[in-house]
Amino acid sequence: MTKHIPQLTAYLREVRHHLHRFPELSNQEFATTAYLREQLAREDIAILDLQLATGLVAEITGGKPGPLVVLRADIDALPIEEQSGVAFSSQNPGVMHACGHDFHASAALGAAIFLQRQRAELAGRVRILFQPAEENGNGAPAVLASGALQNASVIFGLHNDPGLPVGVVGSKAGALTAGVDRFAIRIKGTGTHAARPHEGNDPIIIAGQLIASLQTLIARNLPSDQNAVVSITQVHSGTTWNVIPEEAWLEGTVRTFNAASRDLLEKRLRQLLDGLAISFNASVTLDWQAGPPSVCNDERWAAFALEQASASGLEARTVEASPIGEDFAFYQQQVPGAFVMVGSGGPWPLHHPQFRVDDEALLPAALYLANLALAASTKLASAA
Ligand code: NI
Repeated sequence: MTKHIPQLTAYLREVRHHLHRFPELSNQEFATTAYLREQLAREDIAILDLQLATGLVAEITGGKPGPLVVLRADIDALPIEEQSGVAFSSQNPGVMHACGHDFHASAALGAAIFLQRQRAELAGRVRILFQPAEENGNGAPAVLASGALQNASVIFGLHNDPGLPVGVVGSKAGALTAGVDRFAIRIKGTGTHAARPHEGNDPIIIAGQLIASLQTLIARNLPSDQNAVVSITQVHSGTTWNVIPEEAWLEGTVRTFNAASRDLLEKRLRQLLDGLAISFNASVTLDWQAGPPSVCNDERWAAFALEQASASGLEARTVEASPIGEDFAFYQQQVPGAFVMVGSGGPWPLHHPQFRVDDEALLPAALYLANLALAASTKLASAA
C-alpha cells in the first residue's frame, strides 16, 4: 500500500483542487457528482443504484463476511464570492467551497481507494456517502429516504476544523454540534403618522421589547451548565422617517445541544410572543423551521474514533461542542456513530471568503477514514 502513497497524495490534491475550482450549491451538485463517479469508476469501485438527484453512494465489499460500516462526506458549496487567493480559486462566480466540503469529498474518495485496494482484509462492506446539500440540511434526509443506511451498524463522518492544527483529530462523546432552528417573526401593528403614534400601534416598539426579552429565554430558563444561543440576524421595518409602519419582521436562529433545551426554548419563545401580542394588542406570528438536531456521538464509537486517530499516527483530542449545525445528526437518529473534526490549519474560519484548507491534511484524513472503517469492521465482525 505504502508504495502508492506519493502518487495518491498528488492525485487527491488534484481532485480537491478540481472540486474547489468548480463548487456547486446545495442540490445542484451535478458536475461534482459526475466527477466523483468518474474517479470511483477508475478504481472499479461499485456505486449503488439509489434514487438521488445529486450525490452518490459507493460501496466496497470485503473479502470476508462482516457488518456494514458507513463513512460520510458532504460535497456542496456556499453562496460566497471567493477571496482566498489560491491558484485553484472558484471559477463559478458567487459560489465557493468555504466550508471545505471539497476536502471532505476528496478525503472520502481517498479512503474509498485505500479500502478498495485493501478489500481482501475487509470484513463486510463499507459504504461511502458523498452527501449533497449539507448546507441547507436537505441532504441527509434525502440520503436516508434512498435507503442508503439500511442494515448499517455504524456511521462515521468528518468535518475539517480550521481551529485545529493539521494532524489533530477532535471529537467527544455526546453533543458535538448544535441543534439548529430558524425562526421568523412577523409583528403586525397599525401604521400611522410619526407625530400621532397614539392613533396607531407601533410594531417597532414591540420588536424592541422582543429583541431585549429574547435573551432572557436562555439566561432565565436554562441552567448555568447548559449552553444555547438565540440570535436575531435580520430586522426589517419601515420605509421613511415620519411614518410609523404597519409591520416589523425579524429573523434569527436558536442553537441548542440537547432535545430538552431545544423543546423548552421553542415553547418559551412561543409563550413570549403570545404575551407580547396580548400586552401590545398586536398580531405576532412565528414561523419556526426546525433544522438538524445536535450531532450526538455514541460514547463508545467516539472513543473508538479517537483511538483510531492515535493508531493512524494523528493526535487525538477531546474537543468542546461547537454551536455550528450539521445534518449528520439525522443519521445518528437511526444508526449509532461518531462525528470527528479534522484539523485543517486555518487561519480563516469556516464560511469566510478567505477560508483555506491546508493540503497537508488531506492524505492523513483519507488514511484515517480508511483505517477507521477497517478497524470498525474488524471489531464488529469479531464481536458477532
Ligand atoms: Ni460544512
